[in-house]
Amino acid sequence: MADTEKKSLFSAVQPSGAVTIGNYIGAIRNFAKLQDEFNCIYAVADLHAITVRQEAAVLRRNTLELMALFIACGIDPAKSVLFVQSHVPAHCELTWVLNTIAYPGELSRMTQFKDKSARHADNVNMGLMDYPVLMASDILLYQAALVPVGADQKQHLELTRDLAIRFNNRYGQTFTVPDGYILKDSGARVMSLADPSKKMSKSDENPNGFVTMGDDKDTVIRKFKRAVTDSDADIRYDPEHKPGISNLLTIYHAFTGKSIPEAEAEFAGKGYGEFKIAVGEAVADALAPIQAEKARLLADKAYLGEVMKKGAEQAFRISRKTLSKVYRKVGFLAGE
Ligand code: TRP
Repeated sequence: MADTEKKSLFSAVQPSGAVTIGNYIGAIRNFAKLQDEFNCIYAVADLHAITVRQEAAVLRRNTLELMALFIACGIDPAKSVLFVQSHVPAHCELTWVLNTIAYPGELSRMTQFKDKSARHADNVNMGLMDYPVLMASDILLYQAALVPVGADQKQHLELTRDLAIRFNNRYGQTFTVPDGYILKDSGARVMSLADPSKKMSKSDENPNGFVTMGDDKDTVIRKFKRAVTDSDADIRYDPEHKPGISNLLTIYHAFTGKSIPEAEAEFAGKGYGEFKIAVGEAVADALAPIQAEKARLLADKAYLGEVMKKGAEQAFRISRKTLSKVYRKVGFLAGE
């Protein structure tokens, strides 16, 4: 498992409810593909999730569901370290130390902090502002060289690098400074079906804008039938002039593996209606086995419990090593 020849790669997803096909294509699906090339460490980021208000029972459910989804999407607990963030105390402990070298100015300038503060104006809390420091701790504890991130997390990764460099300069070489990992086929940015100028998001006020990993076949097809397109009738990839059709072609490509030119050829001369149904069917057919496997896993609580326990133990060991080093460098007396 922990192969010293391989670089370590870290990523995490928040258990904040529905996972869209955009999250799947842009992130989760690729996690499985990286497992042979890297030492992969994947977490369910429940500590991050409570920076916005959560219902306790719902958070518990979502955490278990995301664990099951990760495995159903191909993350193999025998190959990768897969764990729940709050099960590993070093994340909070390192956050405290990194807080002492993070500046309120740089944290309050983070785009996501500003967006979330505006969206949750009744709950602008310190955790929301500290979110990127916790994220830096996630990454730095595992000495991850690589972090697959989408555009929305680039700024947080930049801050992680800044904090790592700042700490290393002040206390001596301690942390690997991580790089973003750009996925080979990640041109696939999935846009809203209701407004293809916006990224697909589960917080879209229009539920037809996004498809979730749990949507059944009828729902998926209904949402694709309603997808916004344009007035000319060509099925052609042209994101600037035909963002709706281009988004559907991207999704079709992502779920069938057919190239965009192949897809264009397949639908040449056909109508938008037929094309939309074909995309919906391709997506629904790809989701069905994942949904079945996820349901099977959720029915096997003992297995999921074992996976979480083993993952937490592995993560504990790796993270403890880094944290001990940090504690020594900052001048804490050895406690044991
Ligand atoms: N903030 C990330 C998101 O919402 C989730 C996350 C938490 C993460 N810790 C991380 C991603 C560490 C990459 C690395 O998408």
